[in-house]
Amino acid sequence: MHCIKKITDDLIWVGANDRRLAMFEGVYSVPDGVSYNSYLLTDKKTVLFDTVDKSVREQFLENVSETLKERPLDYLVIQHMEPDHSASVLEIMALYPDMRVVCNAKTLQFIKQFYNFYDESRFMIVKENDTLDTGRHLLRFIMAPMVHWPEVMVTYDSVDKILFSSDAFGCFGALNGAIFADEVDFNKDYIDEARRYYTNIVGKYGTQVGALLKKVSTAQIEIICPLHGFVWRKNLNDIVLKYSQWSEYQPEEPGVMIAYASVYGHTENAAEILASMLWDRGIKTVMFDVSVTPASKIVSAAFRWSHLVFASTTYNAGIFVTMEAFISDLVAHNIQNRTVALIENGSWAPTSGKLMRAQLEKCKNIRLIDETINIRSGLNPEQRSALKSMAEMIASDFPFVS
Ligand code: FEO
Repeated sequence: MHCIKKITDDLIWVGANDRRLAMFEGVYSVPDGVSYNSYLLTDKKTVLFDTVDKSVREQFLENVSETLKERPLDYLVIQHMEPDHSASVLEIMALYPDMRVVCNAKTLQFIKQFYNFYDESRFMIVKENDTLDTGRHLLRFIMAPMVHWPEVMVTYDSVDKILFSSDAFGCFGALNGAIFADEVDFNKDYIDEARRYYTNIVGKYGTQVGALLKKVSTAQIEIICPLHGFVWRKNLNDIVLKYSQWSEYQPEEPGVMIAYASVYGHTENAAEILASMLWDRGIKTVMFDVSVTPASKIVSAAFRWSHLVFASTTYNAGIFVTMEAFISDLVAHNIQNRTVALIENGSWAPTSGKLMRAQLEKCKNIRLIDETINIRSGLNPEQRSALKSMAEMIASDFPFVS
């Protein structure tokens, strides 16, 4: 049975939710599922914005069919070719043989690559600022390369002031009946998943996200329709401000994130003591064991907090394996503008501090606290004093500390 949601009088959400998927893209855990959004504009001409992942195709096709009723589908706009949105393109093309696909040249290239499909007669190729008049609406196509694939574009409806934003402004988590962000307590219940989605999927491409924000900044936008998560119709500035901070790699809050890797608990002990000293000084601090917490959550936290501490044992003459993987992931996501402190442990030849430093020095505008704390197995009183000095050094950046 169809399950659709009305966005405006002539715009219907025809997407679907997947709550059985364990790992989005095979790498990001999605314990609350994920939504694949698709929108159907029922103007004089009918326009479908993107399709859905193959896992929810049946529900999607039923939603489209029910919304159209006896009407033909005139256009499919493909804004993004990643298969979580394009996996049902061929099915839609087969079901609606008179429909034309609206996309850019790079999208057409990807369609050929993914689907070995060559019938170019069905495609309408658009470029920056091209428009499509559908009757009451006028759709303008705006290229958004590398947000986060090269073919990405967004669409602006200048009549109802709707931005179809592709992956931008998306969020992990299935939609549980509500479609608008203002129907739920977004800042309490969903902001962490929005941040985790942004930082892990798009975080590397802050410059390109910034360019898109600038391009659309002059447009009056009243509704944002992303390809995952909620539709925004109120308080748009809240999410736009977050995107602005994230894309500029500016921390959201003063505070410390400690990520540690510990084989027998001694490095963890140092991390715990440092966290305690920081809280004693009034500094918000969060801790993650990189061997336990999914990397996507820790990457997200690193984008949130101003100060980062990495504590790792030495393993096979290198950084402990889970910490090495995590730091590599974080560097790949382009983290910038942070103050970083390091703690290393090694019973006979500690190297993890030096190696972590070398990795993090690749990032822009990272202020590394000079002194790496060196632990040789278990913590001793001298090293405890060094932790206190580190806590005081970090605290000196927090003017509210007494
Ligand atoms: Fe939701 Fe980049 O795909």
